[in-house]
Parts: sequence; C-alpha cells; structure tokens
Amino acid sequence: MNQDDMKKAVAKAAFDYVKEMITDGIIIGVGTGSTANYFIDELAAVKNDIGGTVASSEESATRLRAVGIEVMDLNAAGPVAVYVDGADESNQQLHLIKGGGAALTREKIIAAVAEEFVCIADESKLVDVLGKFPLPVEVIPMARSHVARAIVKLGGDPVWREGCVTDNGNQIIDVHNLQIMEPRKLENALNQIVGVVCNGLFAERAADRLFLGTSSGVETHLPRN
Ligand code: A5P
Repeated sequence: MNQDDMKKAVAKAAFDYVKEMITDGIIIGVGTGSTANYFIDELAAVKNDIGGTVASSEESATRLRAVGIEVMDLNAAGPVAVYVDGADESNQQLHLIKGGGAALTREKIIAAVAEEFVCIADESKLVDVLGKFPLPVEVIPMARSHVARAIVKLGGDPVWREGCVTDNGNQIIDVHNLQIMEPRKLENALNQIVGVVCNGLFAERAADRLFLGTSSGVETHLPRN
C-alpha cells in the first residue's frame, strides 16, 4: 500500500464508523486536506441520510457541495455528532499538530464543538514526540512580527508562510525546531501571545480515536495515558 492507498483506507474506515452513527438529521463535521477529501468522497453515498455537514475550510465546503452534500453554518447547525479530519502529526496520546493546510482555526472550533473527534492519517504521521512538522500559528497580520519575537522566547524558530491568507483573512507563522514534550503547556503558552488567533496544537482537545493507515491495514488507536 502506498501513502495514497493508506489515506483512502482510513477514510473508508472512518466512513464505516460514522455510518453506524447516522440518525435522522445528524450533523457531521468535515475537515481539510487530502485525507479528509477521501472522506468527502465516501460521505457522498449517504448525502440523503444525514442532516448536513459543517466544514473546516472553504475548500472542503466547495468539495462537499460539489458532491451534493449540504454544508451548514456552525451557528445554525445543531449539535455536531462527530468530526472527521486528518493531521500533520499525532503522538500516542492523540495530541495532534494540524494546520498544514492553514485551516487550523476552523478545525479547532469544530473539534471543540463535536461530541467525538476522529482523526484519519497514514502511518507517516504517528510520532513519539510532536514538533518535527513545523507548528502552524494563525496570527492577526499586524501582530506577525510581535508574535514571531515571542515565539523565539519560547524556543521556536518562526517562519512566515508568505503568500498564505487563511479563510479568516489572517496569516500563518510556521514554528520550526520544536521538540514538544508538554503539548498542553505549549498550546496554552502560544494562546497567551497577543495577536495569536489560534495554534495548531490539538492537545487540550485531542482526538478521541485515530484510524492509522499502515502497509498491513488500518489500525485503530485510542489515546494512551
Ligand atoms: C489542514 O489545515 C490540516 O490540519 C490537515 O488536516 C493536515 O494538513 C492533513 O492533511 P493531509 O490529509 O493532506 O495530510
């Protein structure tokens, strides 16, 4: 199985899992990225059986609508039963780094609202210690340099993702060279910097379940203590 096959396999595993939850009017949260896109393809099969979806990016919303799935405003939607999304890294506690696709803020909002958060990823994403993948931080544009200086004080190397404008009209700083031994602590410290909208550490709200694509099939991981 190559990486793409693994992504398709975990998207199918998540779809089979979600299918069992379907009740009249169910709202499903849908993430962003190449793995989430495969989940959207699967979800099209039950478009008439669900109440609708909420999407973590304009890109995913467009893709959902293109296959005939209703996309709702989160404020108008009812409770979100489950949120399915990819990740850039996961540790064994299912703390994640997300935001490689710049959608971290809406992803974190839907993850916070959802009753269950299912992560789907290929085996390259599972790590012992988070931080090899640069940690995305969404910032208000005028605060970018201020936030970058504060990140240096926290021990990271900030790099502006030039040309990237988020769906919320903000900018992204990618923080390199971190070894994140205490994900919750760093997530909260970054949130204290004025001008930070959101950071891509999902530790306070980790995933509840990870479907991991491996060369020998899909593994189900639950958070380890
Ligand atoms: C989007 O902002 C990210 O959080 C994605 O979930 C992440 O980049 C995973 O993307 P792939 O599924 O394309 O690897």
